[in-house]
Amino acid sequence: MFYKNLVWLCLIFAENLQKISCLNNGLALTPPMGWLAWQRYRCITDCETYPDECVSEKLFMEAADLLVKEGYADAGYNFLIVDDCWLAKNRSADGKLQPDEKRFPSGIKALSDYVHSKGLKFGLYEDWGNKTCAGYPGILGNEEIDAKTFAEWEVDYVKLDGCYSNIRLMDKGYPEFGRLLNKTGRPIVYSCSWPAYQEEKGMSINYALMAQHCNLWRNYDDIDDSWDSMIKIADYFAMKQELWSRYAGPGHWNDPDMLLIGNFGLSYEQSKTQMAIWAVLAAPLLMSNKLYDVRPEFKAILQNKDIIKVNQDRLGIQGTRVFRDKGIDMWTRKIEPIRNGQYSYAVAFVSRRVDGAPYPYNITLQDLGLVNPEGYTITNLFGQRNIFNCVFTPTMNVKVRVIPNGVVFLRFNVDDSQKYCDEIQKKTHVFV
Ligand code: GLA
Repeated sequence: MFYKNLVWLCLIFAENLQKISCLNNGLALTPPMGWLAWQRYRCITDCETYPDECVSEKLFMEAADLLVKEGYADAGYNFLIVDDCWLAKNRSADGKLQPDEKRFPSGIKALSDYVHSKGLKFGLYEDWGNKTCAGYPGILGNEEIDAKTFAEWEVDYVKLDGCYSNIRLMDKGYPEFGRLLNKTGRPIVYSCSWPAYQEEKGMSINYALMAQHCNLWRNYDDIDDSWDSMIKIADYFAMKQELWSRYAGPGHWNDPDMLLIGNFGLSYEQSKTQMAIWAVLAAPLLMSNKLYDVRPEFKAILQNKDIIKVNQDRLGIQGTRVFRDKGIDMWTRKIEPIRNGQYSYAVAFVSRRVDGAPYPYNITLQDLGLVNPEGYTITNLFGQRNIFNCVFTPTMNVKVRVIPNGVVFLRFNVDDSQKYCDEIQKKTHVFV
């Protein structure tokens, strides 16, 4: 009986979804992972001077090769996404978008085929306006033909930016383009930049609409290659978390922008911090780096399986910053497994301190909001593994030492084995 009712409810729901032409494309059930050109390659178009860095089919084919060869694809980074500056300055005679012919001599379909031949998915940037942010043709006025063109090119992911457009009309325009993408019959992940533009102008934003029509959306400013830029975004997400986190979930994600890891701006510790915060935020993991130059220790951060597992947790609950004390920010996220209605957690201790020595910090699990009476086992996601093979209860202190601008990232799994920590373990454990 219950099952019958459930099916009935689903049908009504699906029917209503169609009426309001909801995205409902079944994609991005976990945050998308991949590689996006913008942060590292921006709009370098001079291929004579910078043959290895200009936005061109050569760049993307090499990136596709490296995603596979260097193990990123196996770790889950399966989208290869072209950002701005791929277009020719004008449409073709029959009104279609076309790439710059010098930099993409084989055309976009050939590039898409190449990316697919590597077992990857292919993404493309455009703009819901008259022009892209870098001044190339936008889609406004040509939405139908452009959606069809994307499907013909077998695009799997569209990042739709919002420069040169009327911000007040975005609430209609973005959903309409999503509907046109759906109409092509090709499953296409839809990344919207719509709220970032509205946020900038201080407008109140309809996030329910966002979650209904987009698989992911940029909420805020562009990321730049620095700790200041990265942490400013994290702070802004924390400030808005009560509202924003409600709209994240399987199929629809807040997007704090690209991972900087492997570039010029973040130290090793700062890179770990970005990876941890992005995992807690259930953020899309879109690298933007020069893949063949990424040093091994940075590659290890990007390919850390335990942290990717937190990011990709199937429950899709976005974490929040729950506590700030003595320059240590604590971020927690509910994850699987669940036992007796109690969640497991990922907890990031992020130091905002700059006073040199690793800072020792103690806090009870219950102060972090971890209240499973049976307790938790702890795994140190960046440090040494499972050295404390005992169960921590909510009244116990967890002790960490955090490096300036660094992170200790722990996984707390619900556990009912009752192998509680003894007095020595309670006293001597420290996670670093
Ligand atoms: C905007 C976007 C960036 C990038 C550039 C391209 O600034 O937010 O992510 O796509 O446009 O011009």
